[in-house]
Amino acid sequence: MAAKGKQGTLLQAICRNYLFSKRIYYKQSPVKKLYVQTRLGHSSTSSWSINSYMPEASAFHGIRCFKDLHNLSVLDPDTFWGVLAKARLEWSKPFDAVNESDFKSGTIKWFQGGQLNVSVNCVDRHALLSPERVALIWERDEPGTEVKVTYRKLLEMTCRLANVLKRHGIKKGDRVAIYMPVSPVAVAAMLACTRIGAVHTVVFAGFSADSLSGRILDGECNAIITCNQGIRGGRLVELKKTVDEAVKNCPMVKCVFVAHRTENKVPMSDMDIPLEEAMAKEEAVCPPEIMESEDMLFMLYTSGSTGKPKGIVHTQAGYLLYAGLTHKYVFDYHQGDVFGCVADIGWITGHSYVVYGPLCNGGTTVLFESTPTYPNPGRYWETVQRLRINQFYGAPTAFRLLMKYGDDWVKRYDRSSLKTLGSVGEPIHHEAWEWYYGVVGDGKCTVLDTWWQTETGGICITPRPSEEGAEIVPAIAMRPFFGIVPALMDENGKELKGQNVAGALCIKQPWPGIARTLYGDHQRFLDSYFRTYPGYYFTGDGAHRSIEGYYQLTGRMDDVINISGHRLGTAEVEDAMDEHPDVPEAAVIGIPHDIKGEVPFAFVVLKDDVSRAEKVVVEELKSMVTSKIAKYAVPDHIVVVKRLPKTRSGKIMRRVLRKIATNETSDLGDLTTMDDPEIITEVIEYYEKYKQQKSSA
Ligand code: PRX
Repeated sequence: MAAKGKQGTLLQAICRNYLFSKRIYYKQSPVKKLYVQTRLGHSSTSSWSINSYMPEASAFHGIRCFKDLHNLSVLDPDTFWGVLAKARLEWSKPFDAVNESDFKSGTIKWFQGGQLNVSVNCVDRHALLSPERVALIWERDEPGTEVKVTYRKLLEMTCRLANVLKRHGIKKGDRVAIYMPVSPVAVAAMLACTRIGAVHTVVFAGFSADSLSGRILDGECNAIITCNQGIRGGRLVELKKTVDEAVKNCPMVKCVFVAHRTENKVPMSDMDIPLEEAMAKEEAVCPPEIMESEDMLFMLYTSGSTGKPKGIVHTQAGYLLYAGLTHKYVFDYHQGDVFGCVADIGWITGHSYVVYGPLCNGGTTVLFESTPTYPNPGRYWETVQRLRINQFYGAPTAFRLLMKYGDDWVKRYDRSSLKTLGSVGEPIHHEAWEWYYGVVGDGKCTVLDTWWQTETGGICITPRPSEEGAEIVPAIAMRPFFGIVPALMDENGKELKGQNVAGALCIKQPWPGIARTLYGDHQRFLDSYFRTYPGYYFTGDGAHRSIEGYYQLTGRMDDVINISGHRLGTAEVEDAMDEHPDVPEAAVIGIPHDIKGEVPFAFVVLKDDVSRAEKVVVEELKSMVTSKIAKYAVPDHIVVVKRLPKTRSGKIMRRVLRKIATNETSDLGDLTTMDDPEIITEVIEYYEKYKQQKSSA
């Protein structure tokens, strides 16, 4: 079977098969224009001083400029992170050691001995100082109906919700699944878990019941927090119904807390608890659980090379410090700014830059519930105008989509509040970058391509922060953040030195935001990230280092594709399709797509004796993928073939299939290991037939 033969093949094969084949995406001369953008953490560069930029710098010796500070973060990370952790987080008990991590053994430990509570850091300390400061602006799906939540109110909501959880037996260390779109109650749910020491796992509210139950089972969750229904782009989403289906397979779930986003009634069973009603009965005070720095904070499932999604585990202090610091220094966030990250809380971007980073800094964060095109393609910019957003953080897939509707949808709204524009999740190509910079930002904003991953906890490579007045090269992530030391590796596992080199992107030394393990599978954690290049964290991405020393990402080196900024393992789709009784084999690859970046493309083999029409089976496969994973995972193309090209050892040659699917058959690469080259002609014929049928349909 397709996916089954792939287990355990990712390591050395990853490099050889992908980066060092012709799949490398980077262009030799990526630099079209250089922009010099002079803002660096301050509105006026002339008044810039290291001590106002980072007040803690006075505790370091001999730091006069940004370069000194960055060097210190890299050369003496213990001093750098130790001072910042003390200053930026509120501790119940100070830590004894800054960093006891070792990439050789894959052990990661920061701030051991320290005790703190994340909800106290994100809410209480700000509620105490500025109770009426707005913490959340809920930009509801219906434009013009935003709801503001102050720090005082958020603290009250968090405590009430925490008390509800406690009343129903949820305690420190328990895992709680959150299946909700972004909203104040969803943020309070995350914070309530942190308050009582429970571990949340937010599951993107677009995932199917099977995906949800898979994550609940893997995470051994005993409670779920959800909504009766969601509303997105004017459409109702039946969240509770999906939870009901998922829960049938999850005997360990003892209660389901149901918040109400709509007035509509949904069936409630004995284990369902109406959340707002329960919260109203609880006290608005809940003593925080004191947590160790390295206790689990949350887990978040993400796709890997093999079929089963991985439960990435982040812990308390290191993650929070890193999320807060990157939020502050990458985006140049200042008190009073309105921070607008339009990601959903179901992804890491929502965790770090909708919730934890901004709240750790006492900021005002926008919770964007809608879509970029509802009720029209001006939605983002109308929101910017109405909420006076200062930092906007979105995904290239949305920019590519919006560009197609024309500049007028942007220009009709006042965007003069914008200072920084961030991009995340996938490469931002030149055209989209230019549009973001020139049209959205009117050539006045700092535009940042930010590279990072669920595993890294926060942004690792991005043009800012940097030295005063440093250039920004369009569409490149460019510079490592404080404490981040990137390394590029060659096909023999050796680090590439010098400039103008391309290789596998690794990070050389630990930083506080890195994931600690995969829930219930530490060995897979070690194998996935630390075995390929011993002593280095391997990101799974390729990168190029330019002559100037800037980093440009070149794409994934494994079988993970990126659909509209969402990670998906092709093996997950193959596994879902393999379950069809008429499909003995399937191979899924990613192909480029104008708007979504990449889309899945499937070649499937049907059993010889299938009597039903191919069309019917293909439709069944699509609905299987929808119900086993999510709609976004359904392949755009499903081509039925007789056989799949394989190596003599039986491995499917996806590299060849990718060439066929992208019509690059004149150069199929090295075929010496192929078992039966005739299969190529056969597959091409089937694909040509498929294209003809599609164009005449
Ligand atoms: O391949 C890289 C791509 O997204 C992957 C991480 O996906 P995920 O864990 O879902 O996190 C997405 C949001 C942080 C990376 O391994 N990626 C992310 N940002 C960029 C990127 N690729 C190119 N440029 C980026 N700025």
